[in-house]
Amino acid sequence: MSARLLQQGQALHQLSRPYQNPNPQLTVMGYTQFRGTVSQLQDPTKIPSGANWIIPVKAWQLASVLSTYSDAIHTAKEIYISHNGMGAAESELELLRHIPCFDWITTHGAWTNTAGIVHHSGHGESWVGPRFPEHQRSASVDILATALPPLNWDANIQRRRWIKLAINCSINAIATLADKENGALEEKPFQLQIVQVCNEVAQVYRQLHTDELPAETLVHAVNTVIKQTRNNRNSMLQDIHAGRPTEIDFLNGYIEKKGQKHQLPTPLNSELADKIRILSNRVK
Ligand SMILES: NC(=O)c1ccc[n+]([C@@H]2O[C@H](COP(=O)([O-])OP(=O)(O)OC[C@H]3O[C@@H](n4cnc5c(N)ncnc54)[C@H](OP(=O)(O)O)[C@@H]3O)[C@@H](O)[C@H]2O)c1
Repeated sequence: MSARLLQQGQALHQLSRPYQNPNPQLTVMGYTQFRGTVSQLQDPTKIPSGANWIIPVKAWQLASVLSTYSDAIHTAKEIYISHNGMGAAESELELLRHIPCFDWITTHGAWTNTAGIVHHSGHGESWVGPRFPEHQRSASVDILATALPPLNWDANIQRRRWIKLAINCSINAIATLADKENGALEEKPFQLQIVQVCNEVAQVYRQLHTDELPAETLVHAVNTVIKQTRNNRNSMLQDIHAGRPTEIDFLNGYIEKKGQKHQLPTPLNSELADKIRILSNRVK
């Protein structure tokens, strides 16, 4: 998205960590072709007030980003958050509720293993919508949509986040424990697990919302993604192999936590979360 916004002539600053050597060179390959420089800032107070903040970080990093840059973020015009999972930094975001805040879900794929070089490896689609119901569609959504189409406004983005949650709870945890590409999940034993994971997600959703999100809808969404990404090794599997923390506490761990809170049994999501935590500790 940074490269696409720069190509549109938008002013963009990238916030780098204080201990990192700022690298203004950015090369993007694949579905986005870009070679240029990006303004790198290490002091968040240098970010102009009234800027739109785009925060695409791992779920477990969001609370730290919001507290580390709290003073500067309070001057933002709008905030765009993009991560897998649910339940990240909820209390920190509540404190920022006076600023329009939007969730950005994407099926694009991008990765990097060298600073300043990004591979835009999968061309997907994006949706942006309000984190809190009082926040209305903004003209900035058009700028994002022009930069990286197709990007659609979804007033009920929270429901879409739950569908994405079911997809990640099913594919990421199950394929990671099997140490297999997504396509392996088409086999019968994995399909039975997917149905149970989705039943538990649907049950928790029903407790927290007034509308219906049937388990069958979730299973269909999971299997659609499995078919589209048969040869992919999911991000959790890659994180485990690279010794990085996973987002498990915000995926199956989130369903487990909400289930416990509302006395709803979530045995398979709890089991998957436990097994991923053990695996994660073992490879550290
Ligand atoms: N990549 C994809 O294809 C894709 C697709 C769909 C959804 N997602 C989801 O999108 C989210 C982001 O994924 P990603 O692949 O972009 O993750 P990522 O490669 O780990 O990128 C996150 C970036 O944020 C930086 N960061 C974190 N905390 C920071 C801080 N306090 N100050 C400055 N920089 C900070 C990280 O720096 P460090 O490396 O120094 O920690 C890292 O460069 C995840 O929830 C992921 O599941 C990703």
